[in-house]
Amino acid sequence: MHFDFAQTADGIAYKLLVATVMPRPIAWVVTKSVTGLVNTAPFSFFNVMGDAPPTVALGVSRARHGGLKHTAQNIRDSGEFVVNLVPFALADAMNLTAIDAPEGVSEADLAGLALSPSVKIAPPRLSASPVALECRLQQEVQTGPAQHQIIGEVLALHIDARFVLDAGRGHVDTPGLDLIGRSYGADYVRTREVFRLDRPSWRDYTSKKQD
Ligand SMILES: Cc1cc2nc3c(=O)[nH]c(=O)nc-3n(C[C@H](O)[C@H](O)[C@H](O)COP(=O)(O)O)c2cc1C
Repeated sequence: MHFDFAQTADGIAYKLLVATVMPRPIAWVVTKSVTGLVNTAPFSFFNVMGDAPPTVALGVSRARHGGLKHTAQNIRDSGEFVVNLVPFALADAMNLTAIDAPEGVSEADLAGLALSPSVKIAPPRLSASPVALECRLQQEVQTGPAQHQIIGEVLALHIDARFVLDAGRGHVDTPGLDLIGRSYGADYVRTREVFRLDRPSWRDYTSKKQD
């Protein structure tokens, strides 16, 4: 079946995309408003886009009232944000911080989440999250009337030392992190089940064919 997005009804593209482009990692984003209030919200239109410099992107849609979501407004105002990653144990807390809280409410307080200071930027990280990326806004790209992408440079990565296997080589116990990803609607996935595929080289591939 073929869906031409120029012909589909409103909302269908969203449903098809999130039901198929999965699992999506979840950026649990902490920002600080101009008045100093700490804001926390999850975003699954998220990924790492490169490493030189380390770069991440977030896709943010407009809030229901038509204005910017607090996260987007705070990043525009301060140029800084922390992306915390979400382990299975914090799934409920993450979900609670997606609540449409009014101005002035700190979702981290609501969800009972402690904060730890970041090193390079003002917004704090979530103490319970095993991985946090300290990011500086690089560019904001408007891709539609009600959506934009936030591209950030990752200045530093904090990781719970329990999950570092070899700091010098950058080796991490990835399954141990037990991170979750988002699927469609209320469906999430866990990431503990892994399998290996070694990258092929042309030389090995052609020499095997000759054997
Ligand atoms: C798992 C999950 C992923 C989400 N991903 C996105 C997303 O990629 N983009 C978006 O605009 N909203 C997303 N949301 C909704 C926001 O988290 C929600 O609108 C939140 O209230 C925004 O908070 P803020 O106004 O404090 O920034 C997601 C919600 C959940 C639970």
